[in-house]
Amino acid sequence: MFARTVEAAGYGYIIPPMFEDLDVFLRLGEATEVVTKEMYDFHDKGGRHVALRPEQTASVCRAFVEHRPTTPWKVWYAGPNFRYEKPQQGRYRQFDQVGVEALGVDDPLIDAEVIGLAVKFYADLGLRKVQLAINSLGDQGDREKFAQKLASFFSANENKLTPDSRATLARNPLRVLDSKRQADQEVISAAPTILDSISSSSRKHFEAVLQALDALNVRYEINNRLVRGLDYYRRTTFEFTSTALEAAHTAIGGGGRYDGLVEALGGPSTAGIGFALGLDRTLLACDAENVFDAPNTAVDVFVVDTVGGLSAHEISHQLRDNGISADRAYDARSMKAQMKAADRSGAKIALIIGPEELENTTIILRPMSSGDQYAIARKDLISEINKALKTK
Ligand code: HAM
Repeated sequence: MFARTVEAAGYGYIIPPMFEDLDVFLRLGEATEVVTKEMYDFHDKGGRHVALRPEQTASVCRAFVEHRPTTPWKVWYAGPNFRYEKPQQGRYRQFDQVGVEALGVDDPLIDAEVIGLAVKFYADLGLRKVQLAINSLGDQGDREKFAQKLASFFSANENKLTPDSRATLARNPLRVLDSKRQADQEVISAAPTILDSISSSSRKHFEAVLQALDALNVRYEINNRLVRGLDYYRRTTFEFTSTALEAAHTAIGGGGRYDGLVEALGGPSTAGIGFALGLDRTLLACDAENVFDAPNTAVDVFVVDTVGGLSAHEISHQLRDNGISADRAYDARSMKAQMKAADRSGAKIALIIGPEELENTTIILRPMSSGDQYAIARKDLISEINKALKTK
């Protein structure tokens, strides 16, 4: 579904490698937790310092620098990522994401296109309780000015911050805004906002993005405290949360602009924007909203074999080859145990092969709902099963 949505908008599939040179991920910002605490990095046999990817944007940018495709370069990806976290509901050490990245376009209309794709994906899944928060962090200069303002504000109020936030302040003052701790909220609510530092060109860009989202009827909430966890963001940043999730981790996806990341990886000055949606949390949200029916793992036919040999084996394969799902019992268990297994399997029909049947080249067909069993000729197996399945 994701592939269909994004390929219809001109995004091509890319498979970033599962691990990269550590340096690629250090560009996520040496103060970000993903880098300081959560990286699975190690030295390989050749002494190279490598890391399992904690996300895929940096790899996409590295690939861009290496291969220099023509711009706009619009790609999508899917696959696992690794972060050394304390595992809990919705926060895993291995988790899956789908995402898109668009490189080489500064136009605010692409910001809205990218966000619109995520909105469409969630809506197509059937999710209704998804909220979009959006902010602009300004350009590089704005962001630095803002970080300085925040640093002096939080330093002046340090005694009112929790010890955890004080530690964050020393590393990255912007991230203090992300604290969900109740004790920090009073100080955070009085902190300066990015709006005080944002340049007029960044402001214009942001307004154009909002206007383009309005044109798509995308609903959003402007949140000037949204900074997000990765350091590469500039200007547009956004996050999707599910109000159906009660756990601490309600963010089901997020993204933004990372103009400057390609340059940091040794490429030419290139604009970039994208998002990644966390599939594990998205599925939790689907469960919470009852979006999917319980998966039906029942097979059509269960083969009960009381004689051993290859009959049950051959019959099971013949059924599957003819598009009829089939399971069977193994290890020549008792008839009673096999009938129990047939019952548990949820199969509509049990096929029973006994010594008499084998001799007469017949098989007993028992519809599980009625139990009114009858013999069928071995050669008519497929047509008889199809007939019986249709009368169900
Ligand atoms: P992120 O916010 O770090 O952004 O991750 C995106 C989503 O991945 C989160 O909203 C969450 O749903 C999911 N996620 C992150 N960590 C975990 C975890 N430990 N367990 C389960 N789910 C998790 C990025 O990764 C950026 N690369 C997004 C991006 C693309 N920005 C621009 N382009």
